[in-house]
Amino acid sequence: MSLAFLGGADHPISETGAVARHHAKSERRPGAASNAGLSSTHVTPAAGSVRFEGVEKVYTSSAGRVEALKDISIDIPAGAIFGIIGRSGAGKSSLLRTINRLERPTAGRMLVDGQDIAAYGEDELVALRRRVGMIFQHFNLLSAKTVFGNVALPLLVAGVGAAEIEARVAEVLKLVGLEGKETTYPSRLSGGQKQRVGIARALVSRPEILLCDEATSALDPETTLSILSLLKDINRRLGLTIVLITHEMSVIREICDEVLVLEAGRIAETGPVWKVFGNPRHDATQALLAPLTRGLPEEIASRMTPNPVDDASLAIIEFAYTGEGGREPDLARLVALLGPEARIVQSQLDRIDGHLSGRLIVSAPASGDLPSRLSGQDLVNAARIIGYVPANA
Ligand SMILES: Nc1ncnc2c1ncn2[C@@H]1O[C@H](COP(=O)(O)OP(=O)(O)O)[C@@H](O)[C@H]1O
Ligand SMILES: [Mg+2]
Repeated sequence: MSLAFLGGADHPISETGAVARHHAKSERRPGAASNAGLSSTHVTPAAGSVRFEGVEKVYTSSAGRVEALKDISIDIPAGAIFGIIGRSGAGKSSLLRTINRLERPTAGRMLVDGQDIAAYGEDELVALRRRVGMIFQHFNLLSAKTVFGNVALPLLVAGVGAAEIEARVAEVLKLVGLEGKETTYPSRLSGGQKQRVGIARALVSRPEILLCDEATSALDPETTLSILSLLKDINRRLGLTIVLITHEMSVIREICDEVLVLEAGRIAETGPVWKVFGNPRHDATQALLAPLTRGLPEEIASRMTPNPVDDASLAIIEFAYTGEGGREPDLARLVALLGPEARIVQSQLDRIDGHLSGRLIVSAPASGDLPSRLSGQDLVNAARIIGYVPANA
C-alpha cells in the first residue's frame, strides 16, 4: 500500500512529523475528531507549512517594470488545500512560483517550514525543490520517455539507486492509478492519464508540498473531477499541503479549505472557502464568482423595476445564506413573514464544509410594511428586496 510513504525508515519526514501534520489537518476540519494533547509536544512548524511575510515581486525587463506581487502576507497551514484565484495577470503564478523559489521575492520573507528560502543557495534550492513538487497545465512530460522513465527522472537526477527507483515508481504509479502503464509512452495516454503521470512524477520525491498551476484546465469536466478527487485523496493519505491555482471556481469549491483572491498583485480577500464564497466582499471575487451564482430567471430579470409600478406589484426578495450560523430555510416561518402568496422563484443552496451557502429568491406581495418586516427578520443572515415585478404580466 502507498501508506509506505509515511512509514519507511528512509522517509525524510519523521513519524512524529507525520503525526504533527495530521494533527494540523484535524484542527482545520470542522467536526473532525480532535487529537487534543499532541500539539503541545510540537513547537516547530509542521512539515509543509508556508508563510509569506510582506513579499514583493518586481519584474524588470526591457519592456519595463512590473509589480507582480505587493505586500503579500499569508499563512498556509501544513496539510491544507489552499486555492489561489484571480484574473489573468493578477500574479497567481508568480505567487505560486515563489514557494519553490522558481521566482525569488524582491522583498519580504518567504518561509517554508519556518525557514526563509529567499536566501537559499544552489544546494539548498535543489533540496527545497524535492520538498516542493509541482504539476502543470500541459503536464510537461517527455514524449521520448515511457511513463516509468518520466516518473523515475527526478530520482535518477538525484542519484537514487536502481532498486529503490523501481520500488518508488511502482508505489506512486499505484497511488495515482496507473499500474501496468510503466512502458506506455505519453502519446498513448489520455489527458487525465498524462496528468496522473505528472502527479506521480511530482510525488516520487516525497514532497511535503504540491504546487498545481492550472493543473485541470486542459481537462474535460469529468476528468477534472477524477483528478481533483485524486488530489484530495493524496492530501488526506499523505498529509501533503496542496497549493493550487485555478480559474474554475468549482474546483475551489470542490476541494479547497481556504482561498486567496489576488487582484493586481495584492490580496483582495482570503479565508475559508465557505466564508469567502458565501459572502464575497471584493469586486474581483464577485466577478470571479459570477458564473457560479446563477442569474435570475430571464422572465423576472427582464421585467424587474427598482420600485413597485402599482399596488399589485410583487417584491422579489433575496434571502442570502452565508454560512455563518446558517440554518436551513424554515418554510413555515418564511410564509409567516411574507404571507401565503409567497412563492419560491429560485433557489441555490449548497453546503461547503458543512456550512449552508447560497440564496433563495422569493416573490411576495409588495405591501407597505414589507421592508420593515424584512429588516426585523431573524431567519437568515441577510434578506433584501432586489426589485419589483408587475403581478400579472
Ligand atoms: N518573467 C517575467 N518577466 C516580466 N514580467 C512578468 C514575468 N512573469 C510574469 N510577469 C508579469 O507579472 C504579472 C503577473 O503575472 P503572473 O504571475 O503570470 O499572473 P497570473 O498567473 O495571475 O496570470 C503580469 O503582468 C505578467 O505579465
Ligand atoms: Mg498564471
